[in-house]
Amino acid sequence: MSNGNGMAPGQIVKVLIGVVVFLVVAIWLLAKLATSGFNVDAEVMTKEAVAARLKPVGVSVASDAPPGMRNGEQVYKGICMSCHGTGLAGSPKFGDSGAWGPRIAQGFDTLVQHALSGFNAMPAKGGAADLTDDEVKRAVAYMANAGGAKFAEPKAGGEAGAALDPNVAGKKIFDSVCTACHSTGAAGAPKFGDKAAWGPRVAKGMDGLIASATKGLNAMPPKGGFTGSDEEFKAAVEYMVNNSK
Ligand code: HEC
Ligand code: HEC
Repeated sequence: MSNGNGMAPGQIVKVLIGVVVFLVVAIWLLAKLATSGFNVDAEVMTKEAVAARLKPVGVSVASDAPPGMRNGEQVYKGICMSCHGTGLAGSPKFGDSGAWGPRIAQGFDTLVQHALSGFNAMPAKGGAADLTDDEVKRAVAYMANAGGAKFAEPKAGGEAGAALDPNVAGKKIFDSVCTACHSTGAAGAPKFGDKAAWGPRVAKGMDGLIASATKGLNAMPPKGGFTGSDEEFKAAVEYMVNNSK
């Protein structure tokens, strides 16, 4: 029996089998991609990309706390979660005590060292070079504790309970928050370093200044819009006042 293409029936069957096998393999590959590779991306897209889009402009990547002052949870959510939230790239997953147990057994200092310098597919500081070493330590403690450790998370701003250093903690807050008005004198703010503008204010005494600035005063919003602790805000006032009298 002849056909229009001049193929023998046996050849047609072979071609048809070839086409069917090709289709089956192609469908299987597509299904595999859809259930594995694509899902990871989709998750990252929804959680991370949405968070990134909701992030206010002009503040540090991890949270609205000033750089250097972010606690472990803020650093984790801003940086580390992109991998450790899902176990991406073989990272120990957040809250998975089975994955964290052997790592925790290495001790806090080793974990911190690996997080600071990088470790195989773990990039140094999780890829966020602007994190301070203390911020990385807090994030390590936060993550390890969620995996069963009992490390003390180093306090934001220095040693536990110690008064915050105006020239370190205070300066950081000034540079990220207060500078918006107090460097330029915007809205009638007394300018940083302007002794004449600060003179009559300094006469109120440090406690009086801290009290009025905490509450807010005319165009000065409560705490200047700073959302951290009273202790941190106090350090920022001290930094500004000490350098303006
Ligand atoms: C780009 C993905 C990625 C990001 C972002 C990331 N990590 Fe990791 N992390 C990994 C991977 C992968 C490993 C496992 C490395 C290994 O054991 O080979 C890991 C392991 C670790 C470990 C265990 C190290 C050890 O000695 O067992 C710690 C601690 C850690 N990360 C902390 C952090 C901190 C803190 C952050 C955020 C500042 C962070 N990671 C962000 C991928 C990431
Ligand atoms: C949005 C602008 C703005 C920001 C941001 C801002 N301030 Fe002010 N601040 C002002 C203005 C305006 C005044 C003067 C208010 C007045 O006397 O009417 C002022 C006054 C002050 C005073 C003097 C209060 C007094 O009793 O005389 C202190 C102290 C102060 N600010 C601290 C801070 C600190 C610390 C920060 C950062 C954490 C900050 N400010 C951020 C606008 C700002």
